[in-house]
Amino acid sequence: MSKHLLSIDDLEKKDVENIIELSFSMLEILSRDIKKVPTLRGKSVGLIFFEPSTRTRVSFEIAAKTLSADTVNLSEKGSSVEKGESLLDTIKTITALGVDFLVIRHRAEGFPHIVAKISGIPTINAGDGKNEHPTQALLDLFTMLTRKKLRKVDDLKGATISIVGDILHSRVARSGIKLFSKIGMNVILVSSHTTLPKGIEKLGNGNIKIKTQFDDEFFKSDFVMALRLQKERHGNFYFPSDREYNEIWGLDENVMTKLKEKNKDVVIMHPGPMNIGVEINSEVAYSENSAIFEQVRNGVATRMAILYYLFSHLQKIS
Ligand code: CP
Repeated sequence: MSKHLLSIDDLEKKDVENIIELSFSMLEILSRDIKKVPTLRGKSVGLIFFEPSTRTRVSFEIAAKTLSADTVNLSEKGSSVEKGESLLDTIKTITALGVDFLVIRHRAEGFPHIVAKISGIPTINAGDGKNEHPTQALLDLFTMLTRKKLRKVDDLKGATISIVGDILHSRVARSGIKLFSKIGMNVILVSSHTTLPKGIEKLGNGNIKIKTQFDDEFFKSDFVMALRLQKERHGNFYFPSDREYNEIWGLDENVMTKLKEKNKDVVIMHPGPMNIGVEINSEVAYSENSAIFEQVRNGVATRMAILYYLFSHLQKIS
């Protein structure tokens, strides 16, 4: 792989297997009384978040600190961008200050690629508009394994994940479709016509099915991931109301009962943040089948693994 993680396209299957194996090791470190290893001592990680974030920013910060790296946080508010500095000059400035890794979230699709090019230092895409969120897809994959008490990526071959909701505006869906189909999972996308981008199935390896409503095949899923209705990216009205959206595509008690009739161990996922009562109801989100907070916890281990993997890759090529 390259020294950056900008897209799932940057990863060969072997890279995915290595990152997942490392995530298990990182999980073990996080279970110790003293959660600290010296791997990245003397290195610093710039966390540049120009869009809101809780899970991704905080988990990267904990991941970097657990590996003994220093962190530098920058958001649009309070930075010199507010005084008119261009984003590119901001990136050049952070790089000149001696940061070793950049983690960047920005609303502009493709911006992390520009950052990687102009900074020249290992850059991780923490979400670019509706394009990609590769670290989320990796932690989701890791969570499917931890939840099912499996160890190897190949153990998920042939399993089915259904991704439900606002596919059009979802970077989580794009990275997920690429990653899950890369490792041989079946992917079902369930969405309204209005939030189903044309040709989305081409992102996968041929094992993608598209549905506009829940059906028997959906109810047999091994994993069901609800997506947040991304209202901040809705220039138009895509649905008449939250209530109607919830009635048709929301994961509610009725849907959960039918899922459990076919597969009592179905795993419910959501990348967060959740709109409770819109794409998912509380009785599903907080049920025993839900792995939503396991996804959050696993975000730290997976991001430690990613930082370590990029660092060890750099060591090899230098
Ligand atoms: N899933 C995710 O990216 O959450 P945050 O926006 O809180 O980082």
